[in-house]
Amino acid sequence: MTETYVDAAEARTFLLGADWLTDRERAARLAEAESEIRATGAYHHTREELERGAKLAWRNHARCVGRLHWKALRVIDRREVTTAEEVFEACVEHLRTATNGGILRPVITVFAPRRPDGGEIRIWNTQLIRYAGYRLPDGTVRGDPLHIRLTETAQALGWPGPGGAFDVLPLIVRMPGERPRWFDLPADAVLEVPLTHPEFDWFAELCLRWHAVPAISDMRMEIGGVDYPACPFSGWYVGYEIGARNLADHDRYDVLPRVAARMRLDTSRDDTLWKDRALVELNRAVLHSFRRAGVHLVDHHTVTRQFVTHEAREQSSGYALSADKEWITPPLSACTTPVYRRTYTDLRARPNFYHQPAAW
Ligand code: ARG
Repeated sequence: MTETYVDAAEARTFLLGADWLTDRERAARLAEAESEIRATGAYHHTREELERGAKLAWRNHARCVGRLHWKALRVIDRREVTTAEEVFEACVEHLRTATNGGILRPVITVFAPRRPDGGEIRIWNTQLIRYAGYRLPDGTVRGDPLHIRLTETAQALGWPGPGGAFDVLPLIVRMPGERPRWFDLPADAVLEVPLTHPEFDWFAELCLRWHAVPAISDMRMEIGGVDYPACPFSGWYVGYEIGARNLADHDRYDVLPRVAARMRLDTSRDDTLWKDRALVELNRAVLHSFRRAGVHLVDHHTVTRQFVTHEAREQSSGYALSADKEWITPPLSACTTPVYRRTYTDLRARPNFYHQPAAW
Protein backbone atom coordinates (compact mmCIF):
# COMPACT_ATOMS: atom_id res chain seq x y z
CA MET A 1 0.00 0.00 0.00
CA THR A 2 1.15 3.53 -0.69
CA GLU A 3 1.94 5.70 2.28
CA THR A 4 -0.32 8.70 2.54
CA TYR A 5 1.02 11.00 5.18
CA VAL A 6 -0.98 14.04 6.12
CA ASP A 7 0.36 17.25 4.58
CA ALA A 8 1.50 19.26 7.61
CA ALA A 9 1.08 22.55 5.74
CA GLU A 10 -2.61 21.77 5.14
CA ALA A 11 -3.10 20.84 8.77
CA ARG A 12 -1.48 24.09 9.78
CA THR A 13 -3.65 26.23 7.50
CA PHE A 14 -6.80 24.58 8.81
CA LEU A 15 -5.86 24.79 12.48
CA LEU A 16 -4.71 28.41 12.18
CA GLY A 17 -8.27 29.16 11.01
CA ALA A 18 -9.77 27.61 14.15
CA ASP A 19 -11.65 30.74 15.23
CA TRP A 20 -13.49 28.78 17.93
CA LEU A 21 -10.27 28.61 19.97
CA THR A 22 -8.44 31.36 21.81
CA ASP A 23 -5.00 32.33 20.45
CA ARG A 24 -3.31 30.41 23.22
CA GLU A 25 -5.44 27.28 22.68
CA ARG A 26 -4.85 27.46 18.94
CA ALA A 27 -1.08 27.62 19.29
CA ALA A 28 -1.12 24.66 21.69
CA ARG A 29 -3.41 22.65 19.41
CA LEU A 30 -1.21 23.32 16.40
CA ALA A 31 1.93 22.19 18.24
CA GLU A 32 0.13 19.05 19.38
CA ALA A 33 -1.12 18.18 15.87
CA GLU A 34 2.30 18.82 14.33
CA SER A 35 4.05 16.52 16.75
CA GLU A 36 1.38 13.86 16.15
CA ILE A 37 1.99 14.14 12.38
CA ARG A 38 5.75 13.82 12.89
CA ALA A 39 5.30 10.76 15.08
CA THR A 40 2.54 8.90 13.21
CA GLY A 41 2.08 10.51 9.80
CA ALA A 42 -1.40 11.74 10.71
CA TYR A 43 -3.39 13.58 13.39
CA HIS A 44 -6.85 13.11 14.83
CA HIS A 45 -9.44 15.81 14.53
CA THR A 46 -11.28 16.77 17.68
CA ARG A 47 -15.08 16.53 17.48
CA GLU A 48 -15.25 20.27 17.08
CA GLU A 49 -12.70 20.27 14.24
CA LEU A 50 -14.63 17.53 12.46
CA GLU A 51 -17.91 19.40 12.81
CA ARG A 52 -16.51 22.78 11.78
CA GLY A 53 -14.48 21.21 8.99
CA ALA A 54 -17.45 19.34 7.49
CA LYS A 55 -19.56 22.50 7.49
CA LEU A 56 -16.74 24.42 5.81
CA ALA A 57 -16.34 21.68 3.21
CA TRP A 58 -20.00 22.19 2.30
CA ARG A 59 -19.70 25.97 2.44
CA ASN A 60 -16.73 25.82 0.06
CA HIS A 61 -18.18 23.36 -2.43
CA ALA A 62 -18.60 25.37 -5.62
CA ARG A 63 -21.10 23.07 -7.31
CA CYS A 64 -23.78 23.09 -4.60
CA VAL A 65 -26.65 25.53 -5.07
CA GLY A 66 -28.20 24.63 -1.69
CA ARG A 67 -25.57 26.15 0.56
CA LEU A 68 -27.81 28.68 2.30
CA HIS A 69 -28.25 25.97 4.94
CA TRP A 70 -24.60 25.04 5.49
CA LYS A 71 -24.64 25.91 9.19
CA ALA A 72 -27.48 23.46 9.82
CA LEU A 73 -25.44 20.39 8.83
CA ARG A 74 -25.66 17.60 11.41
CA VAL A 75 -22.32 15.88 11.74
CA ILE A 76 -22.49 12.28 12.91
CA ASP A 77 -19.08 11.10 14.04
CA ARG A 78 -18.66 7.36 13.38
CA ARG A 79 -14.87 7.29 13.15
CA GLU A 80 -14.75 4.47 15.69
CA VAL A 81 -16.54 1.98 13.43
CA THR A 82 -14.37 -0.96 12.31
CA THR A 83 -16.63 -3.53 10.61
CA ALA A 84 -18.61 -3.52 7.36
CA GLU A 85 -21.82 -4.34 9.30
CA GLU A 86 -21.33 -1.29 11.48
CA VAL A 87 -20.73 0.92 8.44
CA PHE A 88 -23.92 -0.43 6.88
CA GLU A 89 -25.91 0.11 10.07
CA ALA A 90 -24.59 3.64 10.40
CA CYS A 91 -25.68 4.31 6.80
CA VAL A 92 -29.17 3.05 7.61
CA GLU A 93 -29.15 5.29 10.66
CA HIS A 94 -28.01 8.15 8.41
CA LEU A 95 -31.00 7.59 6.12
CA ARG A 96 -33.44 7.51 9.04
CA THR A 97 -32.04 10.69 10.57
CA ALA A 98 -31.89 12.47 7.20
CA THR A 99 -35.37 11.35 6.10
CA ASN A 100 -37.09 12.36 9.34
CA GLY A 101 -40.51 11.37 8.00
CA GLY A 102 -40.15 13.67 4.98
CA ILE A 103 -38.95 16.78 6.86
CA LEU A 104 -35.46 16.20 5.47
CA ARG A 105 -32.41 17.22 7.50
CA PRO A 106 -28.89 17.83 6.12
CA VAL A 107 -26.63 15.15 7.59
CA ILE A 108 -23.11 13.83 7.11
CA THR A 109 -21.90 10.58 8.65
CA VAL A 110 -18.13 10.49 8.90
CA PHE A 111 -16.22 7.20 9.02
CA ALA A 112 -12.53 6.75 9.81
CA PRO A 113 -10.04 8.78 7.77
CA ARG A 114 -7.57 7.16 5.39
CA ARG A 115 -4.71 5.69 7.37
CA PRO A 116 -1.07 6.59 6.79
CA ASP A 117 -0.59 3.06 5.36
CA GLY A 118 -3.28 3.83 2.74
CA GLY A 119 -5.97 1.64 4.32
CA GLU A 120 -9.41 3.14 3.75
CA ILE A 121 -13.11 2.42 4.09
CA ARG A 122 -15.02 2.78 0.84
CA ILE A 123 -18.69 2.70 -0.04
CA TRP A 124 -18.91 1.56 -3.66
CA ASN A 125 -22.34 3.04 -4.36
CA THR A 126 -22.31 6.61 -5.65
CA GLN A 127 -25.26 7.34 -3.35
CA LEU A 128 -26.73 5.37 -0.44
CA ILE A 129 -29.92 4.99 -2.47
CA ARG A 130 -29.50 4.15 -6.17
CA TYR A 131 -31.70 2.27 -8.62
CA ALA A 132 -30.35 -0.76 -10.45
CA GLY A 133 -29.95 -0.81 -14.22
CA TYR A 134 -30.17 -4.11 -16.12
CA ARG A 135 -29.05 -4.57 -19.69
CA LEU A 136 -31.58 -6.82 -21.40
CA PRO A 137 -30.80 -9.37 -24.14
CA ASP A 138 -32.34 -7.08 -26.82
CA GLY A 139 -29.84 -4.34 -25.90
CA THR A 140 -32.35 -2.12 -24.07
CA VAL A 141 -32.00 -1.24 -20.39
CA ARG A 142 -34.46 -1.74 -17.57
CA GLY A 143 -33.95 0.64 -14.64
CA ASP A 144 -31.31 3.37 -14.41
CA PRO A 145 -28.69 3.03 -17.17
CA LEU A 146 -26.25 5.04 -15.05
CA HIS A 147 -25.92 2.11 -12.67
CA ILE A 148 -25.47 -0.83 -15.01
CA ARG A 149 -21.90 -1.45 -13.88
CA LEU A 150 -22.70 -1.08 -10.19
CA THR A 151 -25.63 -3.45 -10.68
CA GLU A 152 -23.39 -6.01 -12.42
CA THR A 153 -20.85 -5.62 -9.63
CA ALA A 154 -23.54 -6.26 -7.00
CA GLN A 155 -24.76 -9.28 -8.94
CA ALA A 156 -21.22 -10.63 -9.20
CA LEU A 157 -21.01 -10.40 -5.41
CA GLY A 158 -24.19 -12.48 -5.13
CA TRP A 159 -27.01 -9.91 -5.09
CA PRO A 160 -29.99 -11.51 -6.83
CA GLY A 161 -31.25 -8.37 -8.65
CA PRO A 162 -35.04 -8.65 -9.01
CA GLY A 163 -34.99 -7.03 -12.47
CA GLY A 164 -37.44 -4.15 -11.92
CA ALA A 165 -37.30 -0.56 -13.13
CA PHE A 166 -36.78 0.90 -9.64
CA ASP A 167 -34.92 -1.72 -7.58
CA VAL A 168 -32.91 -0.16 -4.77
CA LEU A 169 -29.35 -1.46 -5.04
CA PRO A 170 -27.71 -3.04 -2.01
CA LEU A 171 -25.06 -1.05 -0.21
CA ILE A 172 -21.57 -2.32 -1.03
CA VAL A 173 -18.99 -1.66 1.67
CA ARG A 174 -15.31 -2.45 1.58
CA MET A 175 -13.21 -2.25 4.73
CA PRO A 176 -9.42 -1.89 4.52
CA GLY A 177 -7.81 -5.18 3.53
CA GLU A 178 -11.15 -7.00 3.26
CA ARG A 179 -13.40 -8.17 0.43
CA PRO A 180 -16.39 -5.96 -0.42
CA ARG A 181 -19.67 -7.01 1.21
CA TRP A 182 -23.21 -6.12 0.23
CA PHE A 183 -26.22 -5.39 2.42
CA ASP A 184 -29.85 -4.84 1.44
CA LEU A 185 -31.24 -1.57 2.79
CA PRO A 186 -34.36 -2.15 4.91
CA ALA A 187 -37.41 -0.91 2.97
CA ASP A 188 -38.50 1.32 5.85
CA ALA A 189 -35.23 3.28 5.63
CA VAL A 190 -35.85 4.19 1.98
CA LEU A 191 -38.63 6.73 1.54
CA GLU A 192 -39.87 6.89 -2.05
CA VAL A 193 -42.44 9.03 -3.81
CA PRO A 194 -44.61 7.61 -6.62
CA LEU A 195 -45.18 10.31 -9.23
CA THR A 196 -48.57 11.75 -10.12
CA HIS A 197 -49.50 14.94 -11.96
CA PRO A 198 -51.76 17.75 -10.73
CA GLU A 199 -53.95 17.50 -13.89
CA PHE A 200 -53.01 14.49 -16.00
CA ASP A 201 -54.63 11.40 -14.48
CA TRP A 202 -52.75 9.12 -16.88
CA PHE A 203 -49.42 10.24 -15.42
CA ALA A 204 -49.61 7.67 -12.59
CA GLU A 205 -49.79 4.91 -15.23
CA LEU A 206 -46.20 5.70 -16.23
CA CYS A 207 -45.30 4.09 -12.86
CA LEU A 208 -42.50 6.55 -12.15
CA ARG A 209 -41.09 7.16 -8.71
CA TRP A 210 -38.01 8.58 -7.03
CA HIS A 211 -36.39 8.37 -3.63
CA ALA A 212 -36.59 11.22 -1.14
CA VAL A 213 -32.96 11.46 0.00
CA PRO A 214 -29.98 12.21 -2.25
CA ALA A 215 -27.08 10.87 -0.16
CA ILE A 216 -23.73 11.11 -1.95
CA SER A 217 -21.54 8.29 -0.69
CA ASP A 218 -18.51 8.11 -2.98
CA MET A 219 -16.87 11.50 -2.46
CA ARG A 220 -13.88 12.20 -0.28
CA MET A 221 -13.93 14.99 2.27
CA GLU A 222 -10.61 16.65 3.03
CA ILE A 223 -10.18 18.67 6.20
CA GLY A 224 -6.78 20.09 7.09
CA GLY A 225 -4.88 17.49 5.06
CA VAL A 226 -6.88 14.56 6.45
CA ASP A 227 -8.88 12.51 3.91
CA TYR A 228 -12.22 10.97 4.77
CA PRO A 229 -12.91 8.58 1.86
CA ALA A 230 -16.22 7.39 3.35
CA CYS A 231 -18.49 10.20 4.54
CA PRO A 232 -22.02 9.94 3.12
CA PHE A 233 -23.80 13.30 3.13
CA SER A 234 -27.28 14.38 2.14
CA GLY A 235 -29.63 17.32 1.97
CA TRP A 236 -32.78 17.38 -0.13
CA TYR A 237 -33.54 17.37 -3.83
CA VAL A 238 -34.03 20.25 -6.21
CA GLY A 239 -36.96 19.12 -8.40
CA TYR A 240 -34.97 19.39 -11.63
CA GLU A 241 -32.38 16.85 -10.52
CA ILE A 242 -35.13 14.26 -10.82
CA GLY A 243 -37.44 15.88 -13.40
CA ALA A 244 -34.89 17.35 -15.81
CA ARG A 245 -32.02 14.90 -15.42
CA ASN A 246 -32.59 11.51 -13.76
CA LEU A 247 -35.91 10.81 -15.45
CA ALA A 248 -35.42 12.98 -18.54
CA ASP A 249 -31.87 12.47 -19.80
CA HIS A 250 -31.68 10.36 -22.92
CA ASP A 251 -29.05 8.16 -21.28
CA ARG A 252 -31.02 7.87 -18.00
CA TYR A 253 -34.73 6.99 -17.74
CA ASP A 254 -35.49 8.92 -20.96
CA VAL A 255 -39.22 9.36 -20.27
CA LEU A 256 -39.85 12.51 -22.36
CA PRO A 257 -41.01 10.57 -25.44
CA ARG A 258 -43.51 8.62 -23.30
CA VAL A 259 -44.82 11.78 -21.61
CA ALA A 260 -45.10 13.55 -24.99
CA ALA A 261 -47.00 10.61 -26.49
CA ARG A 262 -49.54 10.66 -23.65
CA MET A 263 -49.86 14.44 -24.09
CA ARG A 264 -50.49 13.79 -27.83
CA LEU A 265 -47.77 16.23 -28.82
CA ASP A 266 -46.39 16.37 -32.34
CA THR A 267 -42.97 14.75 -31.92
CA SER A 268 -42.16 14.68 -35.63
CA ARG A 269 -40.32 18.02 -35.49
CA ASP A 270 -38.11 19.71 -32.89
CA ASP A 271 -39.77 23.08 -33.38
CA THR A 272 -43.07 21.95 -31.91
CA LEU A 273 -41.09 22.13 -28.62
CA TRP A 274 -42.55 18.79 -27.54
CA LYS A 275 -39.48 18.07 -25.40
CA ASP A 276 -39.78 21.39 -23.61
CA ARG A 277 -43.50 20.93 -22.98
CA ALA A 278 -43.09 17.37 -21.73
CA LEU A 279 -40.16 18.49 -19.57
CA VAL A 280 -42.21 21.14 -17.80
CA GLU A 281 -45.05 18.70 -17.08
CA LEU A 282 -42.62 16.08 -15.81
CA ASN A 283 -41.10 18.65 -13.45
CA ARG A 284 -44.54 19.75 -12.29
CA ALA A 285 -45.28 16.11 -11.50
CA VAL A 286 -42.12 15.78 -9.40
CA LEU A 287 -42.80 18.95 -7.39
CA HIS A 288 -46.49 18.12 -7.00
CA SER A 289 -45.90 14.52 -5.90
CA PHE A 290 -43.22 15.32 -3.32
CA ARG A 291 -45.30 18.12 -1.88
CA ARG A 292 -48.38 15.90 -1.70
CA ALA A 293 -46.36 13.15 -0.02
CA GLY A 294 -45.05 15.62 2.56
CA VAL A 295 -41.45 15.13 1.39
CA HIS A 296 -39.29 18.22 1.33
CA LEU A 297 -37.67 19.35 -1.90
CA VAL A 298 -37.20 22.70 -3.56
CA ASP A 299 -37.99 24.12 -7.01
CA HIS A 300 -35.39 25.86 -9.18
CA HIS A 301 -36.82 29.35 -8.70
CA THR A 302 -36.72 29.08 -4.92
CA VAL A 303 -33.31 27.42 -4.68
CA THR A 304 -31.59 29.98 -6.93
CA ARG A 305 -33.20 32.81 -4.97
CA GLN A 306 -31.89 31.19 -1.78
CA PHE A 307 -28.48 30.96 -3.39
CA VAL A 308 -28.44 34.69 -4.11
CA THR A 309 -29.38 35.28 -0.45
CA HIS A 310 -26.49 33.04 0.55
CA GLU A 311 -24.20 35.02 -1.74
CA ALA A 312 -25.23 38.28 -0.06
CA ARG A 313 -24.70 36.81 3.40
CA GLU A 314 -21.22 35.58 2.51
CA GLN A 315 -20.39 38.99 1.14
CA SER A 316 -21.49 40.78 4.29
CA SER A 317 -19.56 38.33 6.47
CA GLY A 318 -16.44 38.85 4.33
CA TYR A 319 -16.21 35.20 3.30
CA ALA A 320 -15.17 34.65 -0.32
CA LEU A 321 -17.83 32.70 -2.20
CA SER A 322 -16.80 29.86 -4.49
CA ALA A 323 -19.29 28.87 -7.14
CA ASP A 324 -19.32 27.00 -10.42
CA LYS A 325 -21.81 28.71 -12.72
CA GLU A 326 -22.41 25.63 -14.82
CA TRP A 327 -23.56 23.69 -11.75
CA ILE A 328 -25.42 26.54 -10.06
CA THR A 329 -27.55 27.26 -13.15
CA PRO A 330 -30.69 25.11 -13.43
CA PRO A 331 -30.96 22.75 -16.42
CA LEU A 332 -34.39 24.14 -17.30
CA SER A 333 -35.71 27.70 -17.51
CA ALA A 334 -32.24 28.97 -16.58
CA CYS A 335 -32.89 32.49 -17.87
CA THR A 336 -35.88 32.94 -15.55
CA THR A 337 -33.74 32.48 -12.41
CA PRO A 338 -31.65 35.15 -10.65
CA VAL A 339 -28.32 33.32 -11.07
CA TYR A 340 -28.47 33.42 -14.87
CA ARG A 341 -26.83 36.81 -15.35
CA ARG A 342 -24.37 36.56 -12.49
CA THR A 343 -20.75 35.47 -12.73
CA TYR A 344 -19.00 33.19 -10.30
CA THR A 345 -15.54 31.81 -9.66
CA ASP A 346 -14.44 28.61 -8.04
CA LEU A 347 -11.67 29.53 -5.60
CA ARG A 348 -11.05 25.86 -4.80
CA ALA A 349 -11.16 26.67 -1.11
CA ARG A 350 -10.44 23.98 1.45
CA PRO A 351 -11.82 22.04 3.29
CA ASN A 352 -13.88 20.57 0.45
CA PHE A 353 -15.45 17.48 -1.10
CA TYR A 354 -13.69 15.80 -4.01
CA HIS A 355 -14.42 13.09 -6.50
CA GLN A 356 -12.23 10.04 -6.07
CA PRO A 357 -11.62 7.19 -8.50
CA ALA A 358 -14.31 4.49 -8.32
CA ALA A 359 -13.19 1.96 -5.75
CA TRP A 360 -13.98 -0.99 -8.00
N1 ARG B 1 -28.05 15.04 -8.75
C1 ARG B 1 -27.99 13.92 -7.87
C2 ARG B 1 -29.21 13.04 -8.06
O1 ARG B 1 -30.07 13.38 -8.82
C3 ARG B 1 -27.90 14.35 -6.42
C4 ARG B 1 -26.79 15.31 -6.09
C5 ARG B 1 -26.96 15.98 -4.74
N2 ARG B 1 -28.17 16.75 -4.71
C6 ARG B 1 -28.69 17.35 -3.64
N3 ARG B 1 -29.81 17.98 -3.76
N4 ARG B 1 -28.08 17.29 -2.48
O2 ARG B 1 -29.40 12.02 -7.47
